[in-house]
Amino acid sequence: MTTDTGKTATLTVDGESIELPIYDASVGPSVIDVRALYKHTGNFTYDPGFTSTAACDSTITYIDGDLGQLLYRGYPIDQLAEDSHFLEVCYLLLYGELPDQAKLDDFESRVTNHTMLHEQMTNFYRGFRRDAHPMAIVTGVVGALSAFYHDSTDIRDPMQREIASIRMVAKMPTIAAWAYKYSIGQPFVYPRNDLDYAANFMHMCFSVPTENYEVNPIMAKAMDRIFTLHADHEQNASTSTVRLAGSSNANPFACIAAGVACLWGPAHGGANEAALNMLQEIGDVSRIPEFIARAKDKDDPFRLMGFGHRVYKSYDPRAKVMQQTAKEVLELVGVENDPILKVAQELEKIALEDEYFVKRNLYPNVDFYSGIVLSAMGFPTSMFTAIFALARTVGWIAQWKEMIEDPDQRIGRPRQLYTGAAERNYVAVDKR
Ligand code: SDX
Repeated sequence: MTTDTGKTATLTVDGESIELPIYDASVGPSVIDVRALYKHTGNFTYDPGFTSTAACDSTITYIDGDLGQLLYRGYPIDQLAEDSHFLEVCYLLLYGELPDQAKLDDFESRVTNHTMLHEQMTNFYRGFRRDAHPMAIVTGVVGALSAFYHDSTDIRDPMQREIASIRMVAKMPTIAAWAYKYSIGQPFVYPRNDLDYAANFMHMCFSVPTENYEVNPIMAKAMDRIFTLHADHEQNASTSTVRLAGSSNANPFACIAAGVACLWGPAHGGANEAALNMLQEIGDVSRIPEFIARAKDKDDPFRLMGFGHRVYKSYDPRAKVMQQTAKEVLELVGVENDPILKVAQELEKIALEDEYFVKRNLYPNVDFYSGIVLSAMGFPTSMFTAIFALARTVGWIAQWKEMIEDPDQRIGRPRQLYTGAAERNYVAVDKR
């Protein structure tokens, strides 16, 4: 909700001046309200990529790219990663406050009791080729949820919005785990109500019917921490996709499927898979200079995957936590001398000293180390972005609910700077 400060910005166009209201944030940059610009001046604003555009007001997540700060409902990400756990963070993102024990127990119980999928959805998986990318399967299955859960698609009913939210958070681990099992030809493993959220996901991914599988508690804690680090991130590309899809009043499952599709891109959530593939391609520290040179070459589309960020112009605070997690997991697995980790550490060191990267504020982002941790846990690179989507679902849902419950909410409909042909008459083919 914006508060009128009485402050305005004066814009003069063709000698005509207009006053545009300025609204202050509780923390961070103020905004200039340009909604009346076209009506009063006949001009649009122009901001491809939305580098200077606030598409909404929100109370959920705050990022300060210069300070390297990330707050979920005001709580710093490093404190939540250290002291909280993912389902408590889900409650915080969805409802705005940390729960007391009774509320937390109730929330965890509701999520636990929605982790199964409609049994007919197993047939849906079998329509995919075995070598289908898990993200192709997750995108399809999430969209298909609206065909199975009609009783939570009416976005105007608060109860249905609540049930859809719980269903999405609860079912994503099952959906992602079954995409993995299907891709490796192993039978689906059903969720268990006696395991916590992260352990349940690992159990559904790695257990097989032929033997007992115990989830390592250090691995489960690392998995839970990865979910927390990826849970929300302000108005990033996939969250903006979910909001735009939701602004047409599409059902929540369709909106989340749109977010999954956007996250898949290697410039966004696909970067963790691309970053590990890049580290494996580099293979040895002796080849790092060759790749650094390619990253700088304007004629070469290659970029250092896992480096740079639209907002963070200092170290991504999630990358710091992820780096520590990487050390813990690799020590546990006994591969602290993993050559890929050596390449990652040397690449980071060189990039942080190289003038090209320093001048452009290109630091490691959350995806740089997450791939190393997930690989050490036993996940194939093709599963990395599906795990990111699993974690980000609660953020997408929280942002979607905030938008739907905003009384000023309208359908999103950007305009354009038209640079095409002016009106001209049709010419018959024999006259062209
Ligand atoms: C995520 O938005 C979010 O919050 C996303 C995310 C989330 O939690 O939702 O944080 C998750 O998507 C993290 C980002 C993961 N992507 C990658 O690691 C892919 C590699 N990174 C780049 O593609 C790039 O840094 C972006 C897309 C992340 C940011 O691009 P910008 O802000 O549009 O920056 P830019 O492309 O304008 O780059 C500015 C300069 C350019 O050079 P010059 O034109 O100034 O000479 O920096 C260069 C770029 O060429 N540059 C890089 C680089 N990233 C930017 N050069 C080499 N390697 C890179 N990785």
